[in-house]
Amino acid sequence: MSGNRENWSARSGFIIAAIGSAVGLGNIWRFPYVAYENGGGAFLVPYLVAIFAAGLPLLYLDYAVGHKFRKAPPLAYKKLMNSESLGWWQVMVTLVIGIYYASVLSWAGSYMYYAIGQKWGADTQAFFFNSYLQNGEGLALGFVPTLFFGLVIVWAVVMFILYGGVRRGVELANKIFMPLLVVLFTILVIQAIRLPGATAGLNAFFTPNWEAMGNYKVWLAAFGHIFFSLSVGFGIMLTYASYLKRKTNMTGSGAVVALANSSFEILAGIGVFAALGFMAFSSGSTVEEVVSGGIGLAFIAFPKIISSMGAGGDLFGFLFFASLTVAGITSMVSILEVPISAFQDKLGWSRKKSVSIIAGGSAIVSTLIFSTHSAITFVDIIDYFANNIGIVGGGLLSIILVSWFRRPLLSQLQAHINQYSSIKLGAGWNFLLTVITPLSLLVALGLTIKSIVAEGYGGYPAEILWLVGGGTLALFIVGAIVLSCLKDKVPEEEN
Ligand code: ALA
Repeated sequence: MSGNRENWSARSGFIIAAIGSAVGLGNIWRFPYVAYENGGGAFLVPYLVAIFAAGLPLLYLDYAVGHKFRKAPPLAYKKLMNSESLGWWQVMVTLVIGIYYASVLSWAGSYMYYAIGQKWGADTQAFFFNSYLQNGEGLALGFVPTLFFGLVIVWAVVMFILYGGVRRGVELANKIFMPLLVVLFTILVIQAIRLPGATAGLNAFFTPNWEAMGNYKVWLAAFGHIFFSLSVGFGIMLTYASYLKRKTNMTGSGAVVALANSSFEILAGIGVFAALGFMAFSSGSTVEEVVSGGIGLAFIAFPKIISSMGAGGDLFGFLFFASLTVAGITSMVSILEVPISAFQDKLGWSRKKSVSIIAGGSAIVSTLIFSTHSAITFVDIIDYFANNIGIVGGGLLSIILVSWFRRPLLSQLQAHINQYSSIKLGAGWNFLLTVITPLSLLVALGLTIKSIVAEGYGGYPAEILWLVGGGTLALFIVGAIVLSCLKDKVPEEEN
C-alpha cells in the first residue's frame, strides 16, 4: 500500500524521531557500564573507531534501502535482492529486543518512585537484587508482582503511542519527550560535575588505558554497542527512513542524528563517572573500588550516590531515572515500529490490528518472562546475544549481500541517497562498506562466537546460557525462515 504509506510531517519530525530512537537505554544505562567494564577511558577509542568504521556507513545504507523502497525490512530487502529472510531476521531481533527493553524500562520507571524519599535504604545492591528484583538462583520462574505491574504500565504507554501512528503517535511523542529529556539531562549532568570528587571520576573515564585497548574484547564490546546505540543493523533506521518524503537530505540528517547520539552517550558517561568520583570521595576510596560494574551499575551506583547527597538527592535521583525512562520510551517505540510496519506491509493489516497483535503479543511474552525471579539473568543473556550476534550478524549480512555480491546495487543506493543530500557519499563510503566494515564485523562476530564457545558468558552455567542465549539465536533463525514463507496479502503492484 505504498500510496497510503504514512510519512513524517517534515524532515525535522524525522530527525527528532531518529534521535529519539537512537538516544535510549543504550546511552544512559548500557554505555556507562559497558565503558566501565571495558577499560573506562580506553573504551572511547574503539568506540569512535566503531562509529566511523561501521556505525555511520551502515546508517546510510539503512537509510538508502528504507527510503528507496519505502518498506519495512522484509519487503525492502525483497525489492532489493529478492529475498525477505534478512528482513525477517531483523524483525525477529527487534521483537526480542523489545521484550527485554520493556523490562529495563520498567525498572527505570519504578526507580523514579523509589528515588522520592530514597526508598532503597543503605544497601542499594541488596535492594536492587533482593528487594526489588527478588533475584533467584539459577532460573527461578516464580512470579514477582512489582515487576509485573511495572511492565504492564510500560507496555500500556508504549502501545498507546504506537496506536497513534507515525505522525500522531511516534512523531508527537518524540516532540514532547525529547526536549524534556534534554532539559532533565542537562540539569543532571551539571549537578553531577559539581559534586566533590567528580574530577577523579572524570579522569577515570577520559584517561585511556592503552593496555585495555590491546584486549580484543574491548573492541568487540565497542562494535557490539554502536549498532544498538545508533539503532542500525536491525531495521529501525531503515523503517524510519521509509516514512520520509521523496526529496529528503538524508546524509545531513544522519550526521545530526549520529552526533546527537554520541553527545548524549558521552554526556551520560560524564554524569555517571562524575557521580562515581563523588562516591569514591565520600567513602575515601578509589573509583575502581566503589562499585562493581555490570548491568546493575545504573541501579546500584546511582541510588548509592543519591543517598550520599542527603535530602537534595531525591530530585537528582528522580531526574536521573526520569531521563532514563523518557529516553527509553522513544527508543522502545522505534524498536516495535519495525515489526508493526513489517506486518502491515506484508499482510495488509491496519495500524490498529498490527499494534494489537504484535505489540500486544510481545507485551504478554515480555510480562511472562520478566516478572520472574530471573528477570536480570534473562536481560543480561538476551541482551548479549541479541546485540553481539543478532544485530552485528544482521548488519554484516546486509552489507556483504549488497557490497560483495551485488555491487551494482551499492552504486544505485549511493546515487539514490546522494540525489537530494547535502553531504555526498563518495568513494570513501563505498570503500568502507566494501572492505573495512564487513571485515571488522566478520572478525567481531567470529571472535564473539569463539569466546562464547570457549568461555561462555558472564559466568552463567552452560545449561542456562545455552537455553536462554541459544534459544534467542534459534528464534532469530526459525523466525527468519518461517516468516519468509508467509504469502503476500497485498497485491504485488501495490507494493
Ligand atoms: N538505540 C536505542 C538505545 O540506545 C535502542 O537504547
